[in-house]
Amino acid sequence: MPLPTQVRLVEVGPRDGLQNEKQPISVADKVRLVDDLSAAGLSYIEVGSFVSPKWVPQMAGSAEVFAQIRQQPGITYAALTPNLIGFEGALAAGVREVAVFAAASEAFSQKNINCSISESLARFVPVMEAAKANDIRVRGYVSCVLGCPYDGAIDPQQVAAVAAELFAMGCYEVSLGDTIGTGTAGATRQLIEVVAGQIPRDKIAGHFHDTYGQALANIYASLLEGVSVFDSSVAGLGGCPYAKGASGNVSTEDVLYMLNGLGIHTGIELDQLIIAGQRICALLARDNGSRVARARASA
Ligand code: HMG
Ligand code: MG
Repeated sequence: MPLPTQVRLVEVGPRDGLQNEKQPISVADKVRLVDDLSAAGLSYIEVGSFVSPKWVPQMAGSAEVFAQIRQQPGITYAALTPNLIGFEGALAAGVREVAVFAAASEAFSQKNINCSISESLARFVPVMEAAKANDIRVRGYVSCVLGCPYDGAIDPQQVAAVAAELFAMGCYEVSLGDTIGTGTAGATRQLIEVVAGQIPRDKIAGHFHDTYGQALANIYASLLEGVSVFDSSVAGLGGCPYAKGASGNVSTEDVLYMLNGLGIHTGIELDQLIIAGQRICALLARDNGSRVARARASA
């Protein structure tokens, strides 16, 4: 399959990245990050989540963040909503696109959202109905697609079944999450083949955590399979509070550098993106997880 000429990067740093930070982060700093990402040319930014603050305290200020960011035309600003309470919170905050998240493994589903896979899908039904009534697009996630921290290996058919349910209930795209980053390129290709048997290939996105250093290889493998939407996180921020060791999404800078090298268009400005990443890392007093940003800083 020829490589796509254009790729959409879904920037998940403000959500998947910051949700895992233990230290308090002010609303102003979150807003600054989102505004920096808008300025860098990202067309899709996952800004926060409307989840229980007892479960993920860092995302508690998401409504304030939405109220204060400078929303630019042509950019999607999205939020995670696990249930109707979350959806209603997002709606009240003026959010126009949300994401629901399920898992391919029962144990992870319980740890992350306190219910079984089928219960989670049932909870999404009223969310989908409310979204439709309010003309809000819904993206779907499946976690643990290439391995689970509790259940180990995951059958690609199980991933495909959950992806198919999300697609059937109205998610316009399903992002396949390698939550713990254990997947490798061959397994990624095989997974996409199987999932593409259930939902159209151009409705599949890839969400690779870089815990084992495999994310770029897995994205390249996905490109070869015709996938052209990838989630990534500026400066490689992130992880998942319910997947021990899920340390960081693949960095947006590194993905962009690879795509630029392949001549694949994204509309994102690398230098601006590096500035955004350096700024949030300085605020958090953490190392920059992007190899490209580190190389540029020491050049
Ligand atoms: P629960 O405790 O089973 O929910 O949590 P409940 O319905 O029994 O409600 C308990 C309390 O929570 C009630 O309040 C509700 O009002 C409140 P109380 O009466 O005790 O005061 N509540 C809420 N509050 C705010 N927002 C809500 C909400 N819902 C209920 N939406 C629940 C179930 C799903 C809420 C909980 O488990 C939760 O919030 N989990 C969050 C999980 C999460 O955010 N995980 C990280 C994101 S997923 C991820 O990172 C993976 C991804 O990146 C892809 C990948 O890498 O694989 C997407
Ligand atoms: Mg994730």
